[in-house]
Amino acid sequence: MAELVVVDHPLVQHKLALLRMKQTPVAEFRRLVREIAHLLAYEITRDLPLATVPIETPLVATEARMLAGKKVCIVSILRAGNGLLEGMLELIPSARVGHIGLWRDPATLQPVEYYYKVPTDIAERPVIVVDPMLATANSAVRAVERLKADGARDIKFACLIAAPEGVARMHAAHPDVPIYTGALDQGLNDHGYILPGLGDAGDRLFGTR
Ligand code: PRP
Ligand code: URA
Repeated sequence: MAELVVVDHPLVQHKLALLRMKQTPVAEFRRLVREIAHLLAYEITRDLPLATVPIETPLVATEARMLAGKKVCIVSILRAGNGLLEGMLELIPSARVGHIGLWRDPATLQPVEYYYKVPTDIAERPVIVVDPMLATANSAVRAVERLKADGARDIKFACLIAAPEGVARMHAAHPDVPIYTGALDQGLNDHGYILPGLGDAGDRLFGTR
C-alpha cells in the first residue's frame, strides 16, 4: 500500500537532467519525454500477467510466454500527459487509451475538468494514468477519483517528476495507487510549481510559451 517507486536508472536521470535545462528546445524536449516514457513503462509493466502459448519458430514447435488478460489502458491527463502517452504507446502499441482533460486554475490550484473519455470496460483493465508533473496532486487525485467512479480498481500513476507534497496527498487519497516517478524533487514554490522541476510541462512540450 502507498507505494512510491523512484526509477533512478542512469538513463532516466540523464534524460531528466536534459529535460530540466531551460535551453532544451521543444523538439528535443518531446523526444526526451517519449524516451523516458519507454523506461517508465518498462518498470510499471513488470507485473503484467503472462500465459504460455504454443508457437512455431522456423526450426521447431515450442512454447513461449505472451501477455495475457485484458489489454492495459493508458489514461492521459491532458494536455501534458500526451507526451508520456505517445512514448508508452510505442512500447505497448495495443494498449487502449483514455483522456481526462484537466486544467489547473492558477489561483486556486484546483483542477477544472473539460473532457473525459475512457473505454467503457475500463473496470476490467489494468490502468496506467500518466501526467508528467505531480505537484499538489490535485489533478492526479481528481483523475483517479473519476476512474474509480467508473469501476477501475487496478490503477498505477506515472510521472516524470513528483513533489513530496503531491506524493503525500496522493498516498492519503489513493493509498492503493502506486506512484512511479523519475525523480522526487524538493517541493513546491508559492505558485504550486515543482522546484527545481522543469517548469510548465505543457508549455515546454507544445511550445506555447
Ligand atoms: C500541469 C501538469 C499536471 C498538473 C500538475 O497541468 O501537466 O496536470 O499541472 O499539477 P497539480 O499536481 O498541482 O495538480 P496544467 O494544469 O498546467 O495543464 P496543461 O497540461 O494543460 O498544461
Ligand atoms: N505543472 C507543471 O507543468 N509544472 C509544475 O512544476 C507544476 C505543475
